[in-house]
Amino acid sequence: MDVDTCESPHYFHREGKVRMAMQDAASFIPLIWSETPSSVMLERGRSNLALMEERRTTRHFSTRDVAREVIELAIRSASTAPSGAHLQPWTWVAIRSADLQVKLREAAEEEEQKTYAERMPEAWSEVLEPLGTDAVKPHLTDAPWVVVLFKQKKRLRENGEWGPTYYATESCGIAAGMFIQAVHTMGLVTLTHTPSPMGFLRELLDRPKHEEAMLVMPVGYPAEGAEVPDIHRKSLDEVAVFFDEQA
Ligand SMILES: Cc1cc2nc3c(=O)[nH]c(=O)nc-3n(C[C@H](O)[C@H](O)[C@H](O)COP(=O)(O)O)c2cc1C
Repeated sequence: MDVDTCESPHYFHREGKVRMAMQDAASFIPLIWSETPSSVMLERGRSNLALMEERRTTRHFSTRDVAREVIELAIRSASTAPSGAHLQPWTWVAIRSADLQVKLREAAEEEEQKTYAERMPEAWSEVLEPLGTDAVKPHLTDAPWVVVLFKQKKRLRENGEWGPTYYATESCGIAAGMFIQAVHTMGLVTLTHTPSPMGFLRELLDRPKHEEAMLVMPVGYPAEGAEVPDIHRKSLDEVAVFFDEQA
């Protein structure tokens, strides 16, 4: 068959061969892209770096309300993340409910008290010490919103059987980073909180068994006088290795 005369979307041309695509195979559209002049590229890169250098995790939140649309925009931005086999294996549970936030805080603090008192190995507590964290989690009730990211470990296939998701942890990690960037870009703060263990969140938030809580992220304004630990970030030389023939 001559590919040029074939009108069926189920045929496409790759590596000089005509192949019949699987039923429901992806159809292709042109990439939307326009060239960015190199001066603009660098300007944007530098201003993005400057913006991201200002991002900090604070544990002190104001109770001031935040519009629901802000949270929706952050979740929609995060959901543009690349994901293994485009399965988008995430569920974002957004909570603005005093009652539920109290329950969440009580359950998280109960677990965290056990962790800090009994379960935490020394190698862990020594790196937490400079951050000043403890089992008391006021951000869960102070912040107007708490967003919990659940990772979908499995997916329901069209034939009704359960199949795995692929690289769900990596995909959710990337999406969480984009959520954090969106929140910061909109001028708010968040805290990537990982209560340990997190099993209680599935039951409390009524999520199905194949979903596993990964991160609890309060979102809001910083409290007046909010503080952050005095820490420093690694330099480029400490985090990157280049193999660059043009250097
Ligand atoms: C996966 C992950 C888990 C974290 N868990 C907690 C946590 O449970 N409690 C907390 O107070 N901060 C937590 N953090 C925040 C880190 O302590 C914080 O990002 C780090 O100290 C660097 O500070 P910065 O975000 O201001 O640059 C976590 C961050 C990440 C990425």
